[in-house]
Amino acid sequence: MLITAELPLNQILLGDSIRLMRMLPSASVDCVFADPPYNLQLRGELRRPDDSLVDGVDEDWDKFSDFAAYDAFTREWLGECRRLLQKDGTIWVIGSYHNIFRIGVILQDLGFWILNDVIWRKSNPMPNFRGRRFTNAHETMIWAARQPDSRHKFNYQAMKSLNDDIQMRSDWLFPLCTGPERLRNQHGLKLHPTQKPEALLHRVLLASTSPGDIVLDPFAGTGTTAAVAKRLHRHFVAIERHPAYVEAALGRVSAIVPARMMGQVTTPSRRDAPRIPFGSLVERGLIAAGTTLHDRSRRVSAIVTADGSLISGDLRGSIHKVGAAAQNAPSCNGWTFWHLERDGKLVPIDVLRSLTP
Ligand SMILES: C[S@@+](CC[C@H](N)C(=O)[O-])C[C@H]1O[C@@H](n2cnc3c(N)ncnc32)[C@H](O)[C@@H]1O
Repeated sequence: MLITAELPLNQILLGDSIRLMRMLPSASVDCVFADPPYNLQLRGELRRPDDSLVDGVDEDWDKFSDFAAYDAFTREWLGECRRLLQKDGTIWVIGSYHNIFRIGVILQDLGFWILNDVIWRKSNPMPNFRGRRFTNAHETMIWAARQPDSRHKFNYQAMKSLNDDIQMRSDWLFPLCTGPERLRNQHGLKLHPTQKPEALLHRVLLASTSPGDIVLDPFAGTGTTAAVAKRLHRHFVAIERHPAYVEAALGRVSAIVPARMMGQVTTPSRRDAPRIPFGSLVERGLIAAGTTLHDRSRRVSAIVTADGSLISGDLRGSIHKVGAAAQNAPSCNGWTFWHLERDGKLVPIDVLRSLTP
C-alpha cells in the first residue's frame, strides 16, 4: 500500500477519466477495477414479444464511431491505468462479447500479464427476445497483473473460505443487480443501465486487495466499487463523467454502514434450502462481517468475517469447522448449529439461504 499526498483518496471525481488519471501520480494505486463502456453497437430499439420496450444500454457514453475509435480510447485509458498501478498491482476489466476480446488484446499489447478470465454467470439473465441467439447469460472479467514479473496479491484462503473450504473456481454465479440494491430515480426507473452487483465487487476486492489498499475505478457509474471498498476498509479513487451518476454515487457511498442486515425472514423446509456457501451470504450483504453468531443455548459464540469464515477464540474456519470444534465433535452442520439474533430471538443462519435469489 502506498499513499501519496496528491492522490484524492476516498473521493468520487467528476470528469473525463483519461484527463483526470493523467493528473494522478505514477505507481500510486494497488488495484484497478474498470467497467468501461461496452460499445454495444445496438441497432434500433429492442422490444419484448408483448411489444414493450427493453430498457437496454443506449446512452451516449457507450457510442463510438467504429472499432478503431473504441480501440484508441481503450488503449489510452488502459495505458493510464498501467502507469498508475504499482509494480505488483492488478487490474480487473469487465466486459461482454462486444468488447472483451479487443480489451484482452490491448491489455497484452500494453504489457499486462493476464492471470485469469473470470466468468460472471448471471442467475437471472435477460432472455434473448428475438430467439435468434443463445441467452447472453454471462460477462467476462479479465484479471491481469501490471507486468509478467509482478508479485501479485491473491488472497487464496479468503476465496476458499468464501466457498465453504473448497478452492474458488473462475466461474462465479451471481444474480443481476436487482431489488433494493438497484438505484432508481424519482420515477422508479433504473438510475443507471449497467449497475453491477455489490456481491461481484465484494469477491473481486476480497480476492486481490487488503484492508488499507487503494482501488481505482475509472468508470465509476453509481459507485459500486467505492461502496464495497468502503465496506471492506479499502481506499478508493473513483472517476465518473456523468454528474447525475456522481451525485447518486456520493449519496450511496456516504450511506454505507458495515452492519447491514436482512429483511423479512421466513423458515424454509430443509429440502428447499439452496446449496450455497455461507460466504456468499456475506458477499450479498445478507449477513454483515462483524455479526456475532451463537449456538442455540448461547454457550458459544463466533464472529463472522468478510471472507465467510468464523472466529471463535483462537479458532478460525468455516461455519462447520468452528461449530464442530465448539462441541468437541467430529463434524457439525454449521447451518443449523449457528444462530443470529433477530428481534431478541435466536434464528438459525439456515433461514438466510431462502433469501438468496
Ligand atoms: C459500464 S458503466 C459503469 C457502471 C458501474 N460499474 C456501476 O456499477 O454503476 C460505465 C460508466 O463510465 C462512464 N464513462 C464513460 N466514458 C467515460 C469517460 N471518458 N470518463 C469518465 N467516465 C466515463 C459512463 O458515464 C458510465 O457511467
